[in-house]
Amino acid sequence: MSQTNSLQTAPVALITGGARRIGAEIARQLHRQGYRVLIHYRHSEQDAQALATELNQAQPDSARLLQANLTEMAAIEPLARQALTAFGRLDLLVNNASSFFPTPLADSSQAQWDELINANLRAPYFLTAALSDALSEAGGCVINLIDIHAQRALPGYPIYSIAKAGLQMMTLSLAKELAPAVRVNGVAPGPILWPEAEAALDLSQKEKVVDKTLLGRTGTAGEIAEAVGYLAGARFVTGQILAVDGGKSLYS
Ligand SMILES: NC(=O)c1ccc[n+]([C@@H]2O[C@H](COP(=O)([O-])OP(=O)(O)OC[C@H]3O[C@@H](n4cnc5c(N)ncnc54)[C@H](OP(=O)(O)O)[C@@H]3O)[C@@H](O)[C@H]2O)c1
Repeated sequence: MSQTNSLQTAPVALITGGARRIGAEIARQLHRQGYRVLIHYRHSEQDAQALATELNQAQPDSARLLQANLTEMAAIEPLARQALTAFGRLDLLVNNASSFFPTPLADSSQAQWDELINANLRAPYFLTAALSDALSEAGGCVINLIDIHAQRALPGYPIYSIAKAGLQMMTLSLAKELAPAVRVNGVAPGPILWPEAEAALDLSQKEKVVDKTLLGRTGTAGEIAEAVGYLAGARFVTGQILAVDGGKSLYS
């Protein structure tokens, strides 16, 4: 088979929030595994373009960009449509994009609720629904980036924790709804990359978080991407959530 033909039959993955940090490593990992990648971004256009250039240099026309603000319901259908027309098929949806900020209970607002729930839960749900026929046709799968704090609430972050708990149940529920054609799994990261907006987290606070891992360190974006890469190919695994957290969820 010629290189052009094999590229045309290569599977296609859409990674939301794929321009930077963990999402970018997931895009690189899946690309190494032979996927053509659709890198979705909201604001990080330059990073997205740099990543697409890097991947297209390795394999021509193997990476394209899609822009959307996932807190807007009206953006979901157009994003799904563009994802399907880009390469003409879709094999894997990685719901990685996430909004993350503290919401102390007494000061929580509806605007915060809407942003956190919509970005972390509503968008993955309706994006999966919009892409489910194409994923079924391809015998594909969905991988949701959850958080170990879906099970143990992160103090000071109730709305984020609620949203991720919903995404965990969405993973289990849609695994049933979409079986047997589409597998649905999740990866629950522990401490990987410190949130950028939280420069306020000082060294001793970071050390406290690391001390609660059994392996005594933070994880890397590459280690999360490897877990996604594993689940993408795990043909007899559905409805599972893999904690990649250095053992932090066992800490008591
Ligand atoms: N970092 C960790 O240690 C950690 C720990 C536990 C769980 N996780 C989970 O792992 C995933 C990746 O983590 P991360 O730290 O790499 O994520 P992140 O940097 O906080 O966010 C990833 C991307 O999400 C996009 N995004 C945010 N709000 C959006 C919206 N309304 N519409 C569209 N895109 C939006 C942003 O895209 P633009 O930059 O293009 O705006 C951002 O680059 C997330 O689901 C996160 O919850 C991460």
